[in-house]
Order: sequence, then structure tokens, then C-alpha cells
Amino acid sequence: MTKDTRLTDAEMRARALSRWEGEGGALAPPGAADSIDESELRITGFTSSGRLTMTSLHVTRRELLELAAATGGALLGAQLLPGAAPPAAAQSTGASPARLDVALRVNRTAHRLTLDPRTTLLDALREHLHLTGSKKGCGLGQCGACTVLMDGKRVKSCLSLAALAEEREITTIEGLARGEELHPLQVAFIERDAFQCGYCTSGQIMAGVACINEGHAGSPEEIREWMSGNLCRCGAYDHIVAAIQDAVAASGSVRGG
Ligand code: FES
Ligand code: FES
Repeated sequence: MTKDTRLTDAEMRARALSRWEGEGGALAPPGAADSIDESELRITGFTSSGRLTMTSLHVTRRELLELAAATGGALLGAQLLPGAAPPAAAQSTGASPARLDVALRVNRTAHRLTLDPRTTLLDALREHLHLTGSKKGCGLGQCGACTVLMDGKRVKSCLSLAALAEEREITTIEGLARGEELHPLQVAFIERDAFQCGYCTSGQIMAGVACINEGHAGSPEEIREWMSGNLCRCGAYDHIVAAIQDAVAASGSVRGG
């Protein structure tokens, strides 16, 4: 009998957290990292016509994988939208879904894009708006390199559909500074040498800003817990924790500014 090698959500969270607690900096293999609870949708099932039904603003990694398995692996932006073909119809014709006009508000600037409805927020930012500070690491919600803020809350943009980010205020690393004045956490990252290759850094900073604003930066242990969704191949975790503590001290509050 084949051994079940799947990890529970609790096990995945524990493994991600262990990296912040000094058990190595290498990225976890697929399936071994954190669950995703910051993203867009909660999928509740299919209608008889094959349409998705969903509520609220959360999708777990398990739900996303189940969804991909149920639909042959295609991202399902098209089915989330009024008038789109159900999965069976889309697969049988092989046709690309009609492109959508999408209005995005990014870093206090409004943009109008025409996108394939399956375009992720990360690809819209990087490929269409040329905001390449947000990085694509795993593309699976495991590493956090793509973290941006949506209405002030952190989301993994590789798992968020651009079409569902309309009417939301998106903040990327490019929008964190005010003119020439860096955000206190950006300053702290530089002063604490909180990066090596820098690939994870924009995601770490955006997650760190949210961590502070959420009030989850009261101690090193709390910071490690609430930053455990962001991985660093270079193992700069101690420096990142120190930088977040510095930013908290600079703002005079665990809630930051
Ligand atoms: S979580 Fe790894 S690229 Fe989005
Ligand atoms: S991955 Fe290199 S600094 Fe984090």
C-alpha cells in the first residue's frame, strides 16, 4: 500500500515556522510549506451547470489544489465571472476566454487593463504594469515572495486573480516609500542587513508592514510566527526579525505606521 506523504495544515505551518526558528533557510519542497489564509475566495462548490460558488475572502492551499484537480488544472478565473463558460465547455473547445477590462488601483494610481480573466494579480503587476518588485518564487502560495497589500491586508498575489482585485487598493513595494522617504521598515532592512540575494525581500517587507500593522510584532517569537508564510533561501531570518523590531521601536508602537 502506498504511504500517504501528505502533510496536514498544522504540520505545514510547523515546518514553515521551523525555518524562522533556525532550522535552515532552504525553501521547502512543494507541499511542505504554509497554508494560505490571506487570499481571495472561499470556494463552496459547483452549481449543476459547472459554475463555481464561493463566499468571503479566503482560500486555503488545500482548496486551491482541490479546485485545480477538479477542473484539470486550469486556473478558474473565467468561471468566477458572469457569463463565462463552465469548466466542461471551456475544456471541450480549448478556446481562450474572452478578455476582460479590469480597473486596478495600484500604489494610489488607477490603471485600466485588458486581461485574460485567468491573469493573476502578480502577473498583472509584473507583466502588464511592469512593477517587478513583487517576485514570483513558487507561484503556489508557499514562499511569500509575491506578497502585496490589498486594502492594507497581506495577500499572496500569485494566488489572487487580478479581475477580483477591482475596487481594492493594492500596495506593492514600489508604493511603500513616500517620495524619497523610505518606509521605516525599508530603512530598518537596510540598517540590519536583512537580506542577502534580495529575492524574498520585497515580500518580506510587505508582510512585515502588515505584521506590524496587525499588532503581531510584540516579541521575536510572535514575529517569527506571523512571518512564517514568507521564506528566505538565504536564511536571513534573524536579521529580518531584528529589522521588524527596529521598525516597531521607530514607530513607538507594535502597530507601526
Ligand atoms: S507565494 Fe511563492 S510566488 Fe507567491
Ligand atoms: S532569499 Fe535571499 S535574501 Fe531571502
